[in-house]
Amino acid sequence: MACALISMPANGLFMLVQGDIERVLFDGPAIHKRLEEIAAQITADYADRELAVIAILTGTLMFMSDLLRRIPLPLKLNCLSVASYHGKTQTSGEVFFNELSVPDVSGQDVLILDDILDTGHTLAAVREKLETAKPRSIRLCVLLSKRKQRARDVNADYVAFEIDDEFVVGYGLDFMERYRNLPYIGVLKKELMDQTNQ
Ligand code: IMP
Ligand code: MG
Repeated sequence: MACALISMPANGLFMLVQGDIERVLFDGPAIHKRLEEIAAQITADYADRELAVIAILTGTLMFMSDLLRRIPLPLKLNCLSVASYHGKTQTSGEVFFNELSVPDVSGQDVLILDDILDTGHTLAAVREKLETAKPRSIRLCVLLSKRKQRARDVNADYVAFEIDDEFVVGYGLDFMERYRNLPYIGVLKKELMDQTNQ
């Protein structure tokens, strides 16, 4: 189990969720070490330019804040919310909050941040949407990329970690909105997902 857990105060929260995690893939120090490398690479690639960062909520929150604080470049930050609603939530009388507006990125050097590249649908859609504004360049940066055949042809320019095709949580990533606050990335126990799907 992650050393990050051992150093956490035994306040109940992390003790409770620890049992839900099959195994830890990347602990806090490993994530931060890798973010130093990616940030240095981005800083070198965009030297003397201003970055227009577009972060996709909500899974990028930890990644975005830890990565961007390591990039000493002028940059603008916008967030996009692309959550899709299915089935039961589309009942009449339900209140939907507007998605955040898509920023105008014409002529800018855009860096899209997302938590994980899985099927590729999200990043393909976001990239296509932003391309209509004719930015100067667009690159994709993800915390995780799953090694798998994707539904859409999307490749990230910056990838912190490649992982197998397993369901992971923590450090911003959720399962049914839970586990985002874990300070590490781990594989969720399969039986927990199976129970919820029944
Ligand atoms: P896509 O399939 O590439 O469009 O990924 C869409 C979104 O699914 C990601 O931004 C995540 O929010 C979520 N997702 C995909 N795989 C995982 C996972 O293993 N854990 C948690 N969320 C995931
Ligand atoms: Mg999610």
